[in-house]
Amino acid sequence: MKIGRLGVIIFLCKVLLCESAEESSCTPGFQSELLVFKVHRDELHQGQKLGRVIFNACDGRTRTLFQSADRCFDVDMDGTVTLKRQVTLHEGHKVFSVDAWESSGKKHTVSVRVERVHHHHEDHHMDTVMNISSPQIESPSDDLVLTLPMSTMDLKRAKREAKRGWVIPPFNIAENSRGPFPEKMHQIKSDYSKEAQMQYRITGEGADLDPKGTFTIERLTGNLFVTRPLDREIKASYRLIAYAVAVGADIKETPMEMIVNVQDQNDNKPVFTQNPLNGNVAEASVIGHEFMTVTATDADDPDTYNGVVSYAIVKQDPELPKPNLFIINPVTGGIRVNALGLDREKWSRYTVLITATDLEGRGYGSTGTAVITVTDSNDNAPQFVQTTHTVSVPENKVGAEVARLTVTDGDEEGSPAWSTKYKIIDGDKSGFFSVSTGPSQLEGIITTVKPLDFEKNKQFILSVIVENDDPFVGSLATSTATVTVNVEDVNEPPEFNPKEKVIFKPEDVKVDSELVTYKAIDPDTAKAQKITYKIGSDPAGWLSVAPDTGVIKVKSLMDRESPSVKDGKYRAIILALDNDGDAPATGTGTLVIELEDVNDNAPVINERNIRMCNRGSAPVLLSISDKDGPPFAGPFRVETHGETSKNWSTSMNGTSTGVFLTPKTALEQGDYNVVLKVIDQGGFDQESTIQASVCDCEGEDVQCNDASLLMSIAASEEERSSSGDDSAGLPPSGVVVQAEPDPEMAAMLERAAANVGLAWNPPAGPER
Ligand SMILES: *[C@@H]1O[C@H](CO)[C@@H](O)[C@H](O)[C@H]1NC(C)=O
Ligand SMILES: *[C@@H]1O[C@H](CO)[C@@H](O)[C@H](O)[C@H]1NC(C)=O
Repeated sequence: MKIGRLGVIIFLCKVLLCESAEESSCTPGFQSELLVFKVHRDELHQGQKLGRVIFNACDGRTRTLFQSADRCFDVDMDGTVTLKRQVTLHEGHKVFSVDAWESSGKKHTVSVRVERVHHHHEDHHMDTVMNISSPQIESPSDDLVLTLPMSTMDLKRAKREAKRGWVIPPFNIAENSRGPFPEKMHQIKSDYSKEAQMQYRITGEGADLDPKGTFTIERLTGNLFVTRPLDREIKASYRLIAYAVAVGADIKETPMEMIVNVQDQNDNKPVFTQNPLNGNVAEASVIGHEFMTVTATDADDPDTYNGVVSYAIVKQDPELPKPNLFIINPVTGGIRVNALGLDREKWSRYTVLITATDLEGRGYGSTGTAVITVTDSNDNAPQFVQTTHTVSVPENKVGAEVARLTVTDGDEEGSPAWSTKYKIIDGDKSGFFSVSTGPSQLEGIITTVKPLDFEKNKQFILSVIVENDDPFVGSLATSTATVTVNVEDVNEPPEFNPKEKVIFKPEDVKVDSELVTYKAIDPDTAKAQKITYKIGSDPAGWLSVAPDTGVIKVKSLMDRESPSVKDGKYRAIILALDNDGDAPATGTGTLVIELEDVNDNAPVINERNIRMCNRGSAPVLLSISDKDGPPFAGPFRVETHGETSKNWSTSMNGTSTGVFLTPKTALEQGDYNVVLKVIDQGGFDQESTIQASVCDCEGEDVQCNDASLLMSIAASEEERSSSGDDSAGLPPSGVVVQAEPDPEMAAMLERAAANVGLAWNPPAGPER
């Protein structure tokens, strides 16, 4: 491929780019639109200086604020480009942009290219090697020529560069142009055009890509046209590629990228994001309190003033209590309180008209509405409707309602700034009263929590305050009510002292003797009352009480062994009655008599009848009991005297609470009366008689010959019938009488059996 030279000449349309060039001898801007810094290594170290960008703001300033799009590079106020950190040029170059602003706020951008060159002859240090001249060089002609000095580049290097395409500074085209269309923008010209007829072509956005046909190029001249007005708010920039090919020759220009930026015009109004916008402000807010923010957006370029919105309040409705209650931050739209005087109770809502204007307030404006609701603050203290009360309360009642104190509050009903709570601040050191909030929320109810005692304190003077559930805003006076509580005397029952009195007395205290004086005292000291005593409960009827004195006496002998005595204690209830005419009251006291035991009961043998064999019988154990408790009961002793001692011997068992009875000799069958004298610990004795039936048998298996026993019973029966008992002659019902060889004898036995309740079965006779 034969390539003698490489180069691109770009003609820029001055009309489109530099609208004001003719009006001023100085046009703000960078010295060039592309700046190339050459370095010798791929590795660039931190702090390394690459060179300078030069910007003229046309305002005499020598120092400018630059901003690098690449964070690796820092640009000083004097334009020196320094590496902020280590950078490696991976592809041998790096491109970034630097911005600067003129005093009107207009932004200018320069493209900076850092590229590595190879040692030897082209060693130029880190100087600016290429400056593509920019539009602001003063040229009277319409078209500006950008030339690339090729002398310092060798062929190989140029080839390599060419493959990557040239970086061309962006073109700017104002939006909304009125034409006529097509309107010429630029002319692109190849260096080869001096030697050969070149043909030009463009591709990319707005050419063969959507929006197609926006940009066209004249094939032979390279004149670039725009065919219709552009809208930045639809598309802000276009990326085009330009091509140049020689007609009939093997010459081809490297495709070139061109960026077309659409320059903003103020063709959009600010729009409120929400209209109307609702906000709330507490009535007690301080000046400067910001409570809501309005926002309006503008579709125009926010980097120009076209898109910068400024806010203002134009009207406040109502203008009460004064206008300018609110102020708006023109930049942020934040609405603040500007003056005191908000009062929800008078003006609960404001409608504020707001404008949002672009060009910092000099451009297009829109109007929006902020509806501001004033919310309640606790700026009204609750007030007692009546500040003095005099009430009467009966003594002794707990939970009795003493007084209801009603209040009013101007704040919002149902809110914690309106609901109330109460406190007794004076007059109740001992805590007899409590105060609570009534169901209406606007009343305090005083009740008693401890019984009042007329005899101790006849009057209380309470100071009660009322507050809201929310704290007051600002300094509000707290309302106080004074409640005079007069305690009413109530007839109280006489009180026994102590309520239960325990005395110790022997059970055998003589009738009519005095046990104790058990008195009650009437708490109603203010009334002269007489107390009368009565027995309330006296289960065994042992006691009497003197009505006037409370002296208790024995009415009948007490007995510790009585069922009315539990664990040795007898309980009686004594009443004390006062003589209050309207409501006599009765007090009760319990008298507990702990009875001391006395030996008033002799021991006794429990068994009455025993049966035993007359031969080889074991001793029979008889049990002994004594109603008295120790020391008037067991262990016991037993004595036999006279006849009994001839036939019977006794011995005590291990605990001496039982006695073994043993016949001394083999006794004849029959009944014996055994008389035993039993003596308790206290020496109280008594004789018990036991009937012992001795049968003719041996050992423990007591077998009495019933016939012989019955004979003896029958004998006594005959005695009875002969003495004139006529019922004895009839056979009792239910008794089966069988004929026997000796009918006389059988009849006699039958009668005897009937009398002792036995069924008589005659001895088995011969088979019939
Ligand atoms: C003592 O035993 C004898 C012989 O069994 C008898 O005759 C006598 O009546 C008994 N005495 C008493 C008092 O039971
Ligand atoms: C002695 O006899 C009495 C009465 O039967 C009985 O309660 C007691 O347990 C007996 N004592 C002994 C040590 O067996």
